[in-house]
Amino acid sequence: MKFFIITLFPEVFDPILNCSILKRAQKKGLVEFELVNLRDFGEGKHKIVDDRPYGGGAGMVLRADILEKALKSVISKLPTTNYPLRPRSEASQLPTILMSASGTPYKQSKAGEFSKVDHLIIVCGHYEGVDQRFIDKYVDEEISIGDYVLTGGEIPAMVIVDSVTRLIPGVLEKPEATLNESFSDSPLTLEYPQYTRPEEFEGEKVPEVLLSGNHAKIKKWRSEKSLEKTKKIRPDLLTRIIQKD
Ligand SMILES: C[S@@+](CC[C@H](N)C(=O)[O-])C[C@H]1O[C@@H](n2cnc3c(N)ncnc32)[C@H](O)[C@@H]1O
Repeated sequence: MKFFIITLFPEVFDPILNCSILKRAQKKGLVEFELVNLRDFGEGKHKIVDDRPYGGGAGMVLRADILEKALKSVISKLPTTNYPLRPRSEASQLPTILMSASGTPYKQSKAGEFSKVDHLIIVCGHYEGVDQRFIDKYVDEEISIGDYVLTGGEIPAMVIVDSVTRLIPGVLEKPEATLNESFSDSPLTLEYPQYTRPEEFEGEKVPEVLLSGNHAKIKKWRSEKSLEKTKKIRPDLLTRIIQKD
């Protein structure tokens, strides 16, 4: 799978992409990253990429024509791909997502969908945002990583890249690790508590059942704990199952 990331700050990705599992995934040839510097497509001596918003208001808006040039440079390198999620990509023929505070909340299920495509283009916004005409013409999905506002789309893009890459077959040494994680089981629950050595820490012992060697009992305990934690912290997840969201 290849990720293209269109950004004004390609340098911030280096430490994340070149460490741990993401680094190993690249070495194994399972994943490739190409950082596209939006500034390279800027206009004039100062490589301008943004302008003031029509109608007034604070901040600057990334220009549709500049973003289009960057996107077309990516598209020109690639063959047409099949992509099941795409309502609007006839224009680009490639899945293009925009990181946006006002986008659809990102979920583990979406990471799973993305892990099955060949290419993903991620556009990172900055400043006040992105000209709507670029979004209307080229963006398949606007995705938010949470109900808060960040300075730019770079950290959200890293969230997508990391969460998707670890689901690509062959990336994790033990792929079964992703099966029992938070948001991965059905019903949708948070993960049960984990323990490791030492057996006793500051007077607190590891729950007896985990030392019992009885796998059926351990499984039952974990599923109870998982449900307990979900009810306490994220009861909305349980409601979501009933609604088949
Ligand atoms: C300062 S924010 C713009 C916020 C925008 N004016 C608004 O009110 O929604 C600049 C950029 O950061 C990114 N961004 C900020 N918060 C985000 C979030 N929660 N999820 C995804 N992207 C986010 C987007 O790419 C956005 O264009």
